[in-house]
Amino acid sequence: MSYHESLRRSFFVAIASAVALLIVSCDSEDMSDLLDIEEDPLYSLASFPVGVAVSSPDLLGDNIYFRSLSAHHFNSITCGNDMKMDALHPSEGSYSWGNADFLIDFAQQHNKRIHGHVLVWHSQVPLWMEDYQGTSDQWEALLKDHIKTIVTHYQAEVFSWDVVNEAFEEDGSLRHTIWRDNIGDDYIAKCFQWAREAGPGIKLFYNDYGLSFNGPKFWAVQAMIDDFQSRNPPIPIDGIGFQMHISDDNPPLANIQAVVDTIEARGLLVHFSELDVSLNRNGYYSELTEAMKQRQKERYYDVFTVYRSLPDELQAGITIWGVGDSDSWIRSFFGRIDWPLLFDDNYDPKPAFWGVVEALQDSG
Ligand code: XIL
Repeated sequence: MSYHESLRRSFFVAIASAVALLIVSCDSEDMSDLLDIEEDPLYSLASFPVGVAVSSPDLLGDNIYFRSLSAHHFNSITCGNDMKMDALHPSEGSYSWGNADFLIDFAQQHNKRIHGHVLVWHSQVPLWMEDYQGTSDQWEALLKDHIKTIVTHYQAEVFSWDVVNEAFEEDGSLRHTIWRDNIGDDYIAKCFQWAREAGPGIKLFYNDYGLSFNGPKFWAVQAMIDDFQSRNPPIPIDGIGFQMHISDDNPPLANIQAVVDTIEARGLLVHFSELDVSLNRNGYYSELTEAMKQRQKERYYDVFTVYRSLPDELQAGITIWGVGDSDSWIRSFFGRIDWPLLFDDNYDPKPAFWGVVEALQDSG
């Protein structure tokens, strides 16, 4: 082979390898983007939005199952952590939008509604707020700026906000938080007013856990709604978020139905905002058995069925708090093994998933 011939050959080999590399890399980019999922999307079976909580580490990382299942099955997204006070407002006078914007891009690329969580809470508060020293007026200015800046920033993208989260204790008393203690008992009403001023068309929710037990905490929320609706002018509130971190055996279904009926009677939207079904509340179990899977399936079926009893116009949706069992906050937060979600540790659908499908397909 002449020198020129060999040069020409190496040139073609180089071109061919570059093209092959390009094809492989395009291919693997496509593959790493989203997997094909066999099952019908859950939301396509429902007359209301079916959502999921996502967070930037899950979506930014290489968890293709998390990303694919989120994109495929759900048409509403809640940020699990990235819109909390510490995430968006880490230091005085400066906001940090990057991670939440990333999740919003993902949601928009896949045509999903975005539910904002959360403007005011006593947990995941940045240190500078915890340490803040000021008069009641200064505290009010701080919180008002926080709410108005965030609601305005996401005005076009966020459909609804949890304005205040977990303001009541189990016995129905107002929780002592930096907000209540520095601004006064009426801080909740003020937060809703500021949110409405900044985002006139945005749906505003009060969100809490343990409300479906229909006990003193729920009665306090009812009293708050009655108070808001009876003021002149009324305090704006559009809906109640029931977190629904429930167990396979608790609370009784009749209690869940009763609280949903009560909110329906007040004409407010209902969001089951953070649904998961714990199978190991007391930490007794180390393995998931077939019987537990079946109990959980029935529980998901029942919860979705109760939800379907609401008139369409009050159904803000059901949001599941995570995708696969291994992502669930319950394992890390409570430090126990549990299997609360619709997909298992390998991201295969569990009987619970089919319980939801059956509830949505049931014509009764
Ligand atoms: C949880 C997140 O899922 C965890 O990642 C975080 O460590 C703690 O908060 N009620 C709420 C949610 O309103 O914001 C909480 O989310 C779960 C309980």
